[in-house]
Amino acid sequence: MSIGFINGKYVALDEKAVPIEERGHQFGDGVYEVIRYYNGEGFMLEEHLERLEKSAEAIRIDLEGGIDSIRTIIEEGVKKAAIPDCSVYLQITRGAAERNHLFPKDVPPSVSMTIKPMAPFSKEMLNNGVSVITHPDERWANCYIKSLNLLPNILAKQAAAEKHAYEAILYKDGKVTECSSSTIFIVLNDTVITTPLSKQILPGITRMAVKEICEKAAIRFEEREYTTEELFSADEVFLTSTTSEVLPVTHIDDRKVAEGTPGNLTTLLMELFKAKTGQ
Ligand SMILES: Cc1ncc(COP(=O)(O)O)c(C=O)c1O
Repeated sequence: MSIGFINGKYVALDEKAVPIEERGHQFGDGVYEVIRYYNGEGFMLEEHLERLEKSAEAIRIDLEGGIDSIRTIIEEGVKKAAIPDCSVYLQITRGAAERNHLFPKDVPPSVSMTIKPMAPFSKEMLNNGVSVITHPDERWANCYIKSLNLLPNILAKQAAAEKHAYEAILYKDGKVTECSSSTIFIVLNDTVITTPLSKQILPGITRMAVKEICEKAAIRFEEREYTTEELFSADEVFLTSTTSEVLPVTHIDDRKVAEGTPGNLTTLLMELFKAKTGQ
């Protein structure tokens, strides 16, 4: 059964537990993580916690008890929920205080969490790949922070859905950055290519897993900027995220990627990723 948690209390997901003057609610003043559990094990949990700590530091939220207290909250929650295959959404905000842009004094951060079952990913999407659109990257300059402020991401993903597409590949100044809620990769001449880490993209944990897999399997992996023209001429395209895992992209803006079917390297990476998660 799905469960919720807020500031030390377990609650039902529909319980009215958040004060109106909560800064996450009024300003989006907070950060979050999404962690996938496979068979009761948090996949790359430490990497997620490290990214969360960096996000919180970047917006100057002090975590009382540090990241260890967050690990404890997650681990206890997963045990209580007793769902071996679940996704954990963990959010930290600057707390509840009278609405004012300035940081409130002596107000503790709010920590909330939901834990929900994860069904295996749609076989059809895995086998056939997904369609995506391209969309301008209209986000701010600090996309490495996993901030609650997701308005441009929401608008891009909605634009994709309205064109019956799964995701929006974002581009800025003619270069591909990432997707609205995932990392994007192309394959050119048997080399897996993805945008280098910078303040302009979120350092994806699944991206990190794919990089490790490529290194182990001696698959050429390159981190460099690439253009939308290269995207359209790629031999293969795939996207990654905690919830989408490794997913082939077979159509972009209604144009086929190569033959319009998942590529060989993508299929291999899907298998190797599955093995890494213990599935
Ligand atoms: C903008 C963005 N990029 C990339 C990702 C993928 O990150 P991860 O692999 O850690 O889920 C996400 C995940 O939510 C995201 O929102």
